[in-house]
Amino acid sequence: MITTCGAGGKLEGVTSNSFSSVSLDPPLVLWSLARRAASFETFAKADSFAVSVLGAAQVHLSRQFATPHADKFEGVAFRAGLGGCPLVVGAIAQFECRSHSVVDGGDHAILIGRVLSASVNEGEPLIFADSAYHQPTGLSTWST
Ligand SMILES: Cc1cc2nc3c(=O)[nH]c(=O)nc-3n(C[C@H](O)[C@H](O)[C@H](O)COP(=O)(O)O)c2cc1C
Repeated sequence: MITTCGAGGKLEGVTSNSFSSVSLDPPLVLWSLARRAASFETFAKADSFAVSVLGAAQVHLSRQFATPHADKFEGVAFRAGLGGCPLVVGAIAQFECRSHSVVDGGDHAILIGRVLSASVNEGEPLIFADSAYHQPTGLSTWST
């Protein structure tokens, strides 16, 4: 899930699986956001955004933040991080990013952020694949 805090303190959050690493030096990450998303302007103008990698027990949050709602954070436990961006309690990893650039990506825009802080917690990841959520049942390891 990606979150931000817009001008005036409006909190936004979007379920996203387009998150990816870009660069190690400097540390850059990206995600893409549909231009038609209600939160698009806020994210595109924001100075910062935060990434909360959801755990296996947080499927309800993934559904909640993938559904348009006036206040997606209702009932959600979070703390404010860099720039007031919400960091979701129980996430298995978090990245706090300063907005670096917004790149054209057709009907999406690619938002690139510089990672200023990263943390990892215990827990299994929530998996979304083949249009469905999955519980990890022991992740297979493949030699590279
Ligand atoms: C698993 C999953 C992954 C998603 N990934 C993205 C994504 O990377 N980019 C995007 O724009 N929307 C993505 N969506 C859809 C948004 O979460 C959804 O359209 C959301 O309501 C957009 O926020 P809005 O309320 O600002 O319109 C995803 C939805 C799901 C269920």
